[in-house]
Amino acid sequence: MRDILGYSGRTVVVSGAATGMGAAVARTLVDLGAEVYALDVKPVAAPVAQATVVDLRERASIDAAVAKLPAHVDRLFNCAGLPGPPFSNLDTTLVNFVGLRHLTEAVLPRIPSGGAVASITSVAGMGWQKNLDPVKALCATTDFDAGRAWLEANTDKNNGYLFSKQCIIYYTKTRSVELVQREIRINCLSPAPTDTPMLSSFHAQVSKDFLEKHFLAPIGRNATPEEMAEPLVLLNSDAARFVSGVNLMVDWGYGAAVEVGARPSLL
Ligand SMILES: NC(=O)c1ccc[n+]([C@@H]2O[C@H](COP(=O)([O-])OP(=O)(O)OC[C@H]3O[C@@H](n4cnc5c(N)ncnc54)[C@H](O)[C@@H]3O)[C@@H](O)[C@H]2O)c1
Repeated sequence: MRDILGYSGRTVVVSGAATGMGAAVARTLVDLGAEVYALDVKPVAAPVAQATVVDLRERASIDAAVAKLPAHVDRLFNCAGLPGPPFSNLDTTLVNFVGLRHLTEAVLPRIPSGGAVASITSVAGMGWQKNLDPVKALCATTDFDAGRAWLEANTDKNNGYLFSKQCIIYYTKTRSVELVQREIRINCLSPAPTDTPMLSSFHAQVSKDFLEKHFLAPIGRNATPEEMAEPLVLLNSDAARFVSGVNLMVDWGYGAAVEVGARPSLL
């Protein structure tokens, strides 16, 4: 049988592998024959080759975790994230974007030509073009410490979850232009509401009724973690070898409904 995904024997790194979508990604990759290196602030239950504790809010913690990874990495999956409250805007954007970017840039030198990076952003980031100036300003910072300093100096521009997710989309697209020189692909995926531990935090922030009224996928139910993990695995696979710079909306048509004006745009 032809293996169009091509994960067998590949070395892959998955952040956020303890719960939710990241755990589903790690399990799927183990099933596909990959050697999985998991990173998370919480314990990882999936049967991975190695699980390393990392706190993406801290540069030193990311650097220490990267030092434990293999010298050769074929694929990086950025799945870790914070939902916003009860976490601060600073912590949320550090984990969701500044830490994600630092981890990505630290792993990229180990990824050879033909490799790929895929990150989870969110449907919540779809208004990124309307907020381009602050997004570009944070993305223009050159490293973790400069990113953190920018966030501390610009608390009025960082609303936490939405801003952090907008930055992932802009970073992915700008980095794809540069990484084509090394034949490395980089993409991101925007989930609609998904039944993971994070969903209860969103319900606490805006109520379940509000979220379902305005953001439920047109098919009328939330996604399962696997329904996000599998398209993410596809994006980083050989089957997607001509795909880069894409923000894949995995929302059963929510974004399409907004684009054609069949549903109001709240983002
Ligand atoms: N669940 C949803 O409805 C939804 C919708 C859109 C996007 N997302 C995004 O999907 C991704 C996965 O989230 P999920 O829904 O599976 O939730 P989750 O809470 O189950 O997973 C998040 C993972 O990130 C890890 N993490 C949190 N803080 C960390 C830190 N400081 N350092 C390292 N790891 C840390 C957690 O331990 C957990 O394993 C996130 O980026 C999230 O923003 C979720």
